[in-house]
Amino acid sequence: MIKELELLSNPKSRVAEAVKTIRTNLEFSAVDEIQKKIMITSTSPAEGKSFVTASLAQSYAMSGKKVLIIDCDMRRGRQYEIFGVSNNRGLSNILISDLEGARIETIKTKLKNVFLLPGGTIPPNPSELLESQKMTEVIHMLEDEYDVLLFDCPPVIGLSDALIVTKYVDSTVIVATYKVTPKELLKKTVKALEGVNAKISGVIFNKVPTASNGYYNRYYDSYYSG
Ligand SMILES: Nc1ncnc2c1ncn2[C@@H]1O[C@H](COP(=O)(O)OP(=O)(O)OP(=O)(O)O)[C@@H](O)[C@H]1O
Ligand SMILES: [Mg+2]
Repeated sequence: MIKELELLSNPKSRVAEAVKTIRTNLEFSAVDEIQKKIMITSTSPAEGKSFVTASLAQSYAMSGKKVLIIDCDMRRGRQYEIFGVSNNRGLSNILISDLEGARIETIKTKLKNVFLLPGGTIPPNPSELLESQKMTEVIHMLEDEYDVLLFDCPPVIGLSDALIVTKYVDSTVIVATYKVTPKELLKKTVKALEGVNAKISGVIFNKVPTASNGYYNRYYDSYYSG
């Protein structure tokens, strides 16, 4: 997992280059709108949401922004693994604790200006926690400290978690697997998100094969379609 972090730290890697373009597109796709809180989701599991979230965080940080990743996937979130940190005190733990007078601790990662709130202990009721009034309070307590907040979410199909998170964010980015994610599923996902009035800013097609995809670079490109 640390390999992913090394890759993200290298601004010359192909992944970093691709994500920089995606970030720039995101910034320019909504010049008149506030794009401070962005959530990342997909139709199905394992399309690269968490990796893309971490890459975007690094890219924003490189452009001088202070970034917080909130791992909203309390079921199988792995941001803590990507950054090699503890998952003992994360979002779920905070959402069941008394917030009165508390300060929410985030983790300073190895990437400069990138902070993390991991998912925490797996709770029995993730959707309920995400929907709670406390979630609103937690975001409220955190948002002034950061320039950008990235919400790493579970997939849309079959789960309500990501649809719930839409109400806390300014825009939603969908990650799809290049040439693999079925169009019908993608349409279903867009419909579900639009059904809760989410503002979809674009689709990132991930895992695009590259010519240099060999021994040295097992990571694939991604590109953005706004
Ligand atoms: N562009 C890429 N090239 C190669 N491998 C990738 C790429 N993006 C993601 N992966 C790999 O695919 C796997 C799944 O990625 P990731 O955990 O980011 O997906 P996810 O959509 O967040 O999954 P989940 O639905 O479980 O949350 C990881 O092993 C990751 O390293
Ligand atoms: Mg994930």
